[in-house]
Amino acid sequence: MDEPAFAPLDRSLQTRPVMVEWTLERKRNACLWGPISPELVRADTQVIERPGWYQTITPSTSGTCNEVVLSQVEDRDAERVIDETIATYRAHGLPTKWCVGYWTRPEDFGERLARRGFESWAVRGMGCSTSLELSAAWDIAVRQVNEQGLERHLAVVMQGWGVPPTELDVWRGTYLARLRAQPCVNYYFEALLQDEVVGTASLILRGDSAYLMGAQVLETARGRGVYRALIRARLEFLCARGIEYATTQAREATSAPRLQHLGFETLFESKCYLLGA
Ligand SMILES: CC(C)(COP(=O)(O)OP(=O)(O)OC[C@H]1O[C@@H](n2cnc3c(N)ncnc32)[C@H](O)[C@@H]1OP(=O)(O)O)[C@@H](O)C(=O)NCCC(=O)NCCS
Repeated sequence: MDEPAFAPLDRSLQTRPVMVEWTLERKRNACLWGPISPELVRADTQVIERPGWYQTITPSTSGTCNEVVLSQVEDRDAERVIDETIATYRAHGLPTKWCVGYWTRPEDFGERLARRGFESWAVRGMGCSTSLELSAAWDIAVRQVNEQGLERHLAVVMQGWGVPPTELDVWRGTYLARLRAQPCVNYYFEALLQDEVVGTASLILRGDSAYLMGAQVLETARGRGVYRALIRARLEFLCARGIEYATTQAREATSAPRLQHLGFETLFESKCYLLGA
């Protein structure tokens, strides 16, 4: 068999002991591998994972856990792999989402997807020390979500992300399983303005770093510092647990410039590609 023409993705960098210096390479790895976890998939998610490849297929939802996150293939195989992947998602009536970044091979993968009519948007891998100090508006409170408050929380999550009501049972089951998991690695937060939940966010612990996810603020409450408060609360939560570094993958059109403004650093630039079902 031919030797691979590229270095295999190195997952081991995630699990180094706490005292190791946070080099750019280590931060990038934490950010890239942050959302790649069995604790983030749905009950019916099929995970296809092998060296240089990570893909999820989830028939119960079109919005999440349906993507090719890592793809390293030989140049000569790229078009066939794209054909097969699109066909797999279409067989489930699902769109095809593909993440393309510094890790993807061949290097012209993005152009290949664009030629086939995929639309794309820019993403930034970002991170910051959890000791970053942020102020917060006096009238915004943030609290951690538990089982008792789950229905109210989910109502705002679904409203904010425009999730169809038909998916509520699946979402509830997913959240409950994660809240009850031992050890617990997924944590959910909500922001309140005058006792109304107006924003939601979550994180997943990934060893000595954490990955921030899913922040959204209801339209009526935007521009008042709710997102800042959700970032601040999650960083404080992590810092108090001795987790030193937080990462996220942020859309250029929404959260990336805001995170930069708040003090996050850019670790890599990537793109997401989407082709309808
Ligand atoms: C992105 C989103 C979460 C922002 O929420 P928000 O509560 O309006 O954000 P905030 O008011 O806390 O703003 C955060 C900071 O970014 C700043 N900011 C706003 N627009 C900015 C821009 N284009 N560039 C740089 N900074 C910007 C704000 O001034 C604020 O800083 P300040 O507190 O020092 O004034 C919200 O628009 C949203 O829910 N969008 C839809 C879901 C989404 O895209 N989520 C992002 C996750 S992928």
